[in-house]
Amino acid sequence: MAIIGGPSRWFWLALFLLLTAEIQAGLPTSAVATAHPLATRAGIETMRRGGNAFDAAVAVSAALAVVEPSGSGLGGGGFWLLHRASDGKQVMIDGRERAPLAAHRDMFLDEQGSFDQKRSIDGPLSAGIPGMPAAIIHLAEKYGRLSLETSLGPALRLAREGFVIGKSYLKLIGFRYPVMLAYPAAAKIFLVDGKIPGPDFLLVQKDLAHTLEQISERGRDGFYSGPVARAMVRGVRAHGGLWSFSDLEQYRVVEREPIHANYRGTRVTSASPPSSGGVVLSEALNILSGFDLARSDAIGFKHLVIEAMRRAYRDRARYLGDPDFVSMPIERLTSLPYGAALGSGIRIDRSGFTAEMDTGRSEPEREGQDTTHFSIIDAEGNRVAATLSINYPFGSCFVAPGTGVLLNDEMDDFVVHPGSGNVYGLTGGEANMIEPGKRMLSSMTPTFLENPERVAILGTPGGSRIISMILLATLDFEAGKEPDSWVSVPRFHHQYMPDVVEYEKGGLSDDEIQGLQAKGHDVKELNRQYGNMQAILWDKMTNRVTAASDPRREGLSLVE
Ligand code: DON
Repeated sequence: MAIIGGPSRWFWLALFLLLTAEIQAGLPTSAVATAHPLATRAGIETMRRGGNAFDAAVAVSAALAVVEPSGSGLGGGGFWLLHRASDGKQVMIDGRERAPLAAHRDMFLDEQGSFDQKRSIDGPLSAGIPGMPAAIIHLAEKYGRLSLETSLGPALRLAREGFVIGKSYLKLIGFRYPVMLAYPAAAKIFLVDGKIPGPDFLLVQKDLAHTLEQISERGRDGFYSGPVARAMVRGVRAHGGLWSFSDLEQYRVVEREPIHANYRGTRVTSASPPSSGGVVLSEALNILSGFDLARSDAIGFKHLVIEAMRRAYRDRARYLGDPDFVSMPIERLTSLPYGAALGSGIRIDRSGFTAEMDTGRSEPEREGQDTTHFSIIDAEGNRVAATLSINYPFGSCFVAPGTGVLLNDEMDDFVVHPGSGNVYGLTGGEANMIEPGKRMLSSMTPTFLENPERVAILGTPGGSRIISMILLATLDFEAGKEPDSWVSVPRFHHQYMPDVVEYEKGGLSDDEIQGLQAKGHDVKELNRQYGNMQAILWDKMTNRVTAASDPRREGLSLVE
């Protein structure tokens, strides 16, 4: 067709596309990846109402507290890693639980003076002072642009109107059933007439809705003083716990500088103490940067990664704890020369054997199965990576009557007894011993990865294995892979003690198992897959945002 007179519509279309591309240059689209579809939708809904990624993080944190009560909640805590696009500020909101002021080292010994792990994971003695409500209030006030009431809206609705539970709920409630039976206020909410509910159970949480309302109307005072605080302190003390009003009144979030590392041109930003995540991740990456991983075969690659994990987890146990209580050689631990020195001790042909490095033993008694992570990016480039926890599935299984708030059992993340591992088999030293008001060491590793072309936001639950999962995903990012690969990568883990390479079902091939055994590694297959990673990638070259939820579980990621 001949074009006569004036520019054709194709010209105008091309001009329009060019202009919109210009306007959009440098900005991503928004995305949310969480462990539960309803929480993901709460985040998207909040951004559609004009909220930024930080408002969405408030909405998602609160929604997860309602729809994934096994993993996190108002009675728990976590770490929110933020990147503010307007000024590039990166900060970690530390909403980790603290030990009650009456806590002491012997609090988990029984009448005979022996360590009793039940006391550090079941019931209110195991509960630290929650940080989650203070953290979301702080996030909303300092970084958000919507009112707390607006951002808590979706969670409030879900608590009031209820939602139908999913497969994870059923599995995990079965795991904690006997403990929950011991606490009637919790059993009344999460069980049906003292029995495990059926798959179509509509979980309505009226008391939790009321507590959320109190927070939305009165801020801090809605949780840390007033009727909710009174009910919690009364309930905890009636069942052998140590909480006081001062514990709640004194709780404060802390803004901390994240840990930074540089791995082959990728800037790593991750959780700082009281999480061990960023330090252990950086240390392992620094060790590995001395090796040409791309030229290693699969067995050689895995051997090196295992040896890096072993050394980095050793330092976790040796040095790390709450920065407000202990001084730690963070700069040295995360330095390249230190990584190189540790790496130089690695032999290519054989395992580094923990026993040759140190002595001592601890077995993980049970598998960590919960906690939660979400990742968010908004259309301005603000980012949040948050890993939240009440520790064990359904935390301590304790709810103070009238509050609907399931309390954590995070006290078990301390060195609960010298010489014994915690529930994840983690050992530690003086730095992580129980002290009044101290924050227990965590493995939660919300992380940003950034190179000139790409930005990643990621994290996962998984107890002590969190850090090794983030390490594997970081190596996959660096190899140029996309989020659906990072979240699916087959997982293996070494944590220094016990001296075992654990791998998820199908995580190592027969050849790899034999190859690692030939180097002297004790290799053990777990009877399941683990982790629940939620990841977002912003490709800055194309401005494309992609997101992925771990295929092992029920999460949902949405890109707007
Ligand atoms: O803070 C920590 O390291 C633990 N409380 C996390 C627990 C966890 O991830 C359990 N889930 N699998």
